[in-house]
Amino acid sequence: MKEVKVLASTPYSVYIENNSIEKVGDYLQTAIKKPIKVLVVTDENVSALYLKKVVESLQKSGYKTFTCILKAGEGTKSMENFSKLCSVSASLNLTRDDALLALGGGVIGDLVGFTASCYMRGIKFIQVPTTLLAAIDSSVGGKTAINIEEGKNLIGSFWQPCLVVYDPETRKTLPKEQFLCGVGEAVKYAVLAGGRIYDILSSGKIDENFEELVELCVIEKAKIVHQDEKEHGVRKLLNLGHTVGHAIEKLSNFTALHGLCVAKGLYLLAKAQRFEGSISEDCFNKIEKMLNTYAFDLEIPYSVEDIVKEFVYDKKSVDGGVSLVKIKDIGDCFVENTAIDCLGEFLSCK
Ligand code: NAD
Ligand code: GLY
Repeated sequence: MKEVKVLASTPYSVYIENNSIEKVGDYLQTAIKKPIKVLVVTDENVSALYLKKVVESLQKSGYKTFTCILKAGEGTKSMENFSKLCSVSASLNLTRDDALLALGGGVIGDLVGFTASCYMRGIKFIQVPTTLLAAIDSSVGGKTAINIEEGKNLIGSFWQPCLVVYDPETRKTLPKEQFLCGVGEAVKYAVLAGGRIYDILSSGKIDENFEELVELCVIEKAKIVHQDEKEHGVRKLLNLGHTVGHAIEKLSNFTALHGLCVAKGLYLLAKAQRFEGSISEDCFNKIEKMLNTYAFDLEIPYSVEDIVKEFVYDKKSVDGGVSLVKIKDIGDCFVENTAIDCLGEFLSCK
């Protein structure tokens, strides 16, 4: 078992252990001893695989459980489901002592976390991620959000979980492209942090080093969240590849998967920086090779002009500029405020 402590304003532990999905109740005992009520929220795919195990484990540890099963997919991060979860919580008389538990990927985690931050001005929140992406990114650090028609993640909050439990065995039921989405975020950490994360990813031996890889990514995220919980500075680094990635997601009407778009965004950035001369040929080759190891489709079916138009609506853009995360070398990235007007030229390598 691996434990990573996240020293946010309210500290908590992330536990990574095979078959921990059957021990969520035991882990919850480390965070909340009282026999509280727990509303377990999940999606249709995950419920069929893991809901029973989680519920049985919680009950065995003395918690009173309730369940809510939502449709799978990005559309679930909606105002309607936020409202539904608030009503379900109220009808169960949940109080601030009780908890909402997100069992699933980043969609369920973001929606349930946001609801937990608002219901009764904030109740306890537990993350049991079941995708690689959620394990190494969205379940840690307290960013929560839902989507509205005007944009993705536009309504959200910072609300830390009190516990995160990840069972690496759950990767075995993940559809291949969903696993690849997680690898896209792991490549982001490899470029940001370098070192062992880069070594594992560039070797192509993820499966052999899976638990260690998850632990190292979570440690990187925890370090950054500890320094800058509310994203005033260093946390922006976690958006490496995301500026272009989000634009692609939006242009696809959210049919393209987040982690796959991050990989495309990272590649376009690296290509543009190679052209600009701000990264070495060697650094570019390392990034390209790492992405090719996992056969990411790096084609972007949109023009640079269309991508740049999307930046104007990005919630991270301010006064005609965006905080673009750029690469110096593997393990060395920085944030640069860049005028949107200059990005077209930069990204089209002109
Ligand atoms: P997801 O939650 O949609 O899950 C992907 C799919 O896999 C779903 O169909 C789900 O039902 C299925 N699934 C989940 N676990 C499974 C398992 N073990 N076996 C079989 N099927 C399983 O997608 P995701 O990639 O986990 O998360 C994407 C979301 O996360 C996006 O909304 C994105 O904005 C958000 N996100 C948030 C943060 C953050 O910091 N809060 C960071 C990154 C991404
Ligand atoms: N996924 C980016 C962040 O948590 O800041």
